[in-house]
Amino acid sequence: MATKQIGIILNGATGRICRTQHMRGGLVPIRDEGGLTVGDDQIVPRILLTGRNEDRLAEVAREYGIEEWTTDLDAALADPDFPVFFDAAATHLRLDTLNRAIDAGKHIYTEKPIAPTVTEGIELMHRAEAKGLKHGAVEDKLFLPGFRKLSNLMDSGFFGRVVSFKLEFGWWVFDGIAAESQRPSWNYKKSGGGGLLSDMHPHWRYVIEGILGPITDVSCAAWTAQPERIDEDGARYTVDVEDATATILDMESGARGSIVSSWATRVRSDDLVTFQIDGTEGSAVAGLRKCWSQSAADTPRIEGFNMGSGPETMDFLVDYDDHWKEVPDVGPYKNPYRFGWEGFIPHVLNNAPFEHTLAAGIRDVQLAEACARSSDEKIWVDMAPVT
Ligand SMILES: NC(=O)c1ccc[n+]([C@@H]2O[C@H](COP(=O)([O-])OP(=O)(O)OC[C@H]3O[C@@H](n4cnc5c(N)ncnc54)[C@H](O)[C@@H]3O)[C@@H](O)[C@H]2O)c1
Repeated sequence: MATKQIGIILNGATGRICRTQHMRGGLVPIRDEGGLTVGDDQIVPRILLTGRNEDRLAEVAREYGIEEWTTDLDAALADPDFPVFFDAAATHLRLDTLNRAIDAGKHIYTEKPIAPTVTEGIELMHRAEAKGLKHGAVEDKLFLPGFRKLSNLMDSGFFGRVVSFKLEFGWWVFDGIAAESQRPSWNYKKSGGGGLLSDMHPHWRYVIEGILGPITDVSCAAWTAQPERIDEDGARYTVDVEDATATILDMESGARGSIVSSWATRVRSDDLVTFQIDGTEGSAVAGLRKCWSQSAADTPRIEGFNMGSGPETMDFLVDYDDHWKEVPDVGPYKNPYRFGWEGFIPHVLNNAPFEHTLAAGIRDVQLAEACARSSDEKIWVDMAPVT
């Protein structure tokens, strides 16, 4: 078996997601474990970091034992030793950067959202395909251990006929006024490509359709819970995007479900995200790592809520969690972003099948776009696949 390198440019390398997930959780362990087996070869990522700040790049490079970095994106794109370009920089820069990478003949892999609109996403994909380039979109959440368990239950027929689902996500993001914000300010500015719909609904699209099948229609309300925030430089700004949303989805299967996402809610649930599926034969609810199920046989017979142990207490003295069983782990933990790299690299080198292409990324944007339109116009919006 021959050991070979694949040159990968990581753009936005100093950003949170690139550093903590794609590098620390994905490419660096792949490199340090001696590479990925692709056909008869062992493929080791050769990483080139790109970004705006020389010192920060050098610091990140040092942290992960990477020898190459530059602030000169054009020079990186012109380097034939690096055929793959990955973008994890701020969202508003993405379309332009990916187009430059395509012009330079790079295979492109990108964080979400892949483009601001479905139309722009389609143009991007056509440009890549016209040049014979491979493309991919990060769809990591399906690989979360909790959601993998849910998916396995679905495949096994555990639920019977799925009747409904609910996906709840969020936590409190401080506004910078009362306490320092824990998320970058671009997330709360239209000009920075911010907004909860384009940030999170691309994820919810592939998670929901990946487990439950096609979404046919959506109805959404999106609003701004925190209208004013303070940015990294201490400047006060007006939030001009939504930071809270509630969505209802119709499924091709006949089931209906909901998504509630918010940057202005305080956590009191099993996890930061929970996805519950209810079916005629059983229910299950997954968080990031864990999943609990309740079969029809285990379902408690609840008679109503106006009884309890005494009329004045309304206290049933029942722990509803007792009726759920934890679903065992599917295997040793693997970083969800690593799955993406392990799929994309063989796709580039050996044309291996890869479902997380820009076509999937466009469908992800379609859900965000449909929800924004539904909220603006107060209507149900069709999710028929774009051709
Ligand atoms: N898959 C996921 O779960 C997930 C999670 C978080 C973020 N993301 C996506 O990853 C991207 C980055 O998010 P993040 O949370 O790491 O943000 P971040 O703010 O930590 O990082 C953004 C990066 O973009 C760079 N950048 C910002 N403005 C720039 C400019 N004007 N010119 C050049 N570079 C600039 C920054 O230097 C930084 O390297 C976003 O598109 C976001 O949607 C995906």
